[in-house]
Amino acid sequence: MKLDGKVAIVTGAASGIGQASAELFAKHGAQVVVADLQVEKGEEVARKIRDQGGSAVFQRTDVAEVQDIKDMVARAVNKWGRVDVLYNNAGIAQPIRPIEEVSEDLFDRVMRINVRSVFLGSKYVVPVMKQQGGGSIINTASIAAVKPRLGHNGYAASKGAVITLTKSLASELASYKIRVNCINPVAVDTPMAPEFQPDVDVNAAKESYKQTIPLGRMASPLDIARGALYLASDDAELVTGIELNIDGGRAL
Ligand SMILES: NC(=O)c1ccc[n+]([C@@H]2O[C@H](COP(=O)([O-])OP(=O)(O)OC[C@H]3O[C@@H](n4cnc5c(N)ncnc54)[C@H](O)[C@@H]3O)[C@@H](O)[C@H]2O)c1
Repeated sequence: MKLDGKVAIVTGAASGIGQASAELFAKHGAQVVVADLQVEKGEEVARKIRDQGGSAVFQRTDVAEVQDIKDMVARAVNKWGRVDVLYNNAGIAQPIRPIEEVSEDLFDRVMRINVRSVFLGSKYVVPVMKQQGGGSIINTASIAAVKPRLGHNGYAASKGAVITLTKSLASELASYKIRVNCINPVAVDTPMAPEFQPDVDVNAAKESYKQTIPLGRMASPLDIARGALYLASDDAELVTGIELNIDGGRAL
């Protein structure tokens, strides 16, 4: 049990990587706030964790909204008295398109949900972590920031910002024993993956991802959750400011 006695918040936890991480964190003893916009699915994830003997509550959260983020942090503190881990994972895709075809509204939305969320989550959890003497913030960036596919433009930029914010906060917060790291997943088999290529058949899209991954397969949500578990746990006590590529070698 790697997270015994720890309290974790996972955003985007109603689906995909967030769901797998919330479930894995709970299996390892964490008390988990499942935060997401999707109420029914989020409630279901929290219920499943409790049914399996774990500890979880659902909190409806729009990660781009200040009050929702404050309420999310307060839920953990009111229920369990602390926040050891914040996994800023929620995000949205942007269909792969030439830049001339990407609307200003979509660009703004991608930046708002993928970047402002990490800024807000960190801003409002840090006072709690400072007061308790430490914590771990984990952010989901993307290998798209390191090796963008053609047409990733705005999405790649949003994840690049997440990586830079991670590093900046890691230096700012190290003296408070708050570690800040990010994960760069390659294409992950979640409902989001086909959203990058909405005009392409789902299986053809998956095949095209596979072809570009040296280890020969897409990531599963659990591949990413295992990395998050490591960064959340005391196994990573001396690890801060890193980008953990879980990418089957795609960045090589
Ligand atoms: N799937 C991939 O190929 C891939 C690759 C690299 C990085 N990522 C990143 O991984 C993260 C998780 O994606 P996933 O693949 O698990 O996708 P997913 O669609 O399965 O899950 C994303 C979750 O985020 C939630 N969400 C979206 N907007 C939100 C908001 N404003 N407030 C709260 N919750 C919100 C959704 O409701 C959903 O439950 C994202 O940041 C994504 O950019 C995904």
